[in-house]
Amino acid sequence: MEYTTLGSTGMTVSRIGLGCMSFGSGQEWMLDRNASTDLIERAIDLGINFFDTANVYSTGESEEIVGDALAGYDRDAHVVATKVYAEMNPDNPNASGLSRKAIEQELEASLDRLGMETVDLYQLHRWDYETPIEQTLRALDDAVRRGKARYIGASSMWAYQFAEALKTCDSLGLERVATMQNHYNVFYREEEREMLPLCDREGVGVTPWSPLARGVGTRPHDELDSTTRGRTDESLSQIPYLQGGGEEINERIQELAAENGVTMAQISLAWLLHKEWVDAPIIGTTSVEHLEQAVEALEISLSASELAYLEEPYEPLPVTGHE
Ligand SMILES: NC(=O)c1ccc[n+]([C@@H]2O[C@H](COP(=O)([O-])OP(=O)(O)OC[C@H]3O[C@@H](n4cnc5c(N)ncnc54)[C@H](OP(=O)(O)O)[C@@H]3O)[C@@H](O)[C@H]2O)c1
Repeated sequence: MEYTTLGSTGMTVSRIGLGCMSFGSGQEWMLDRNASTDLIERAIDLGINFFDTANVYSTGESEEIVGDALAGYDRDAHVVATKVYAEMNPDNPNASGLSRKAIEQELEASLDRLGMETVDLYQLHRWDYETPIEQTLRALDDAVRRGKARYIGASSMWAYQFAEALKTCDSLGLERVATMQNHYNVFYREEEREMLPLCDREGVGVTPWSPLARGVGTRPHDELDSTTRGRTDESLSQIPYLQGGGEEINERIQELAAENGVTMAQISLAWLLHKEWVDAPIIGTTSVEHLEQAVEALEISLSASELAYLEEPYEPLPVTGHE
């Protein structure tokens, strides 16, 4: 396993983070508790120390699974990240958003499900248009002072919003938002315009979500329906990965995979791992074999011409993830 320092946190994470959105229930493609636990244990064997969940993943079940699976290990050895913002209870509007009330209640509930006193990284899942960012950041700063969270992170939002959050932290002397989990992969590169240069300039750690384009970067585009998730993940049809140059990119990944004797998933992931502004992609898998492939992808070296070949067909896409 390779490790890296996550932005300016000083905290060391494996260069592959394990996404825990697939753990629990609610969708056909999700993994039940036992199989999820096996996957987490294999991840630890492989040297992965970075786990990303959210309160909303399977409405808390993912946090419970992660907490239970990690309970048998030294807590200090792992970096556990979770998130707040999305709707947790349709009957309680204060169980979502980024108000002080929501943050304090949801953080307590997340810690309870994780069975932990502190979460290493507490992330704003989206921007809350109803709550002043200063209130949100003060609540997060208090969470750090109280020892409930160690670092603060954010996820998909507009770059101007993230810049405002950073400026607010700095001007008020609050705990700085240290990481950005954004939507970035070889099929979706809109973040290269504003967000990634901003993160680079500000020393923010970058941990892209859906690094394999939700499976589009793992198999030929005419075989996307060949997996349960490919057939049933509704969000896949909402993301325009195959628009513009997407099919051509998918075909070039097939070509490079064949030439290098590796899988398409490994080429897609290797492309992302070559991007200097990326610290640790958060990969999603329900398969031990696929997890092992992700770790092996760290050893793949792509030449400048191979990287350019993959990038050449890209055409601008509608912003997706936080629109
Ligand atoms: N912050 C946010 O708003 C946000 C949004 C979405 C996701 N996330 C985070 O990002 C993580 C990953 O997201 P994701 O699951 O959407 O994206 P992903 O990692 O881009 O794609 C996962 C898909 O790729 C397939 N796959 C993985 N490795 C493969 C391989 N070697 N060969 C063939 N297929 C392979 C998986 O199938 P198998 O299961 O069969 O391996 C799964 O269908 C989530 O768990 C979550 O933690 C965050």
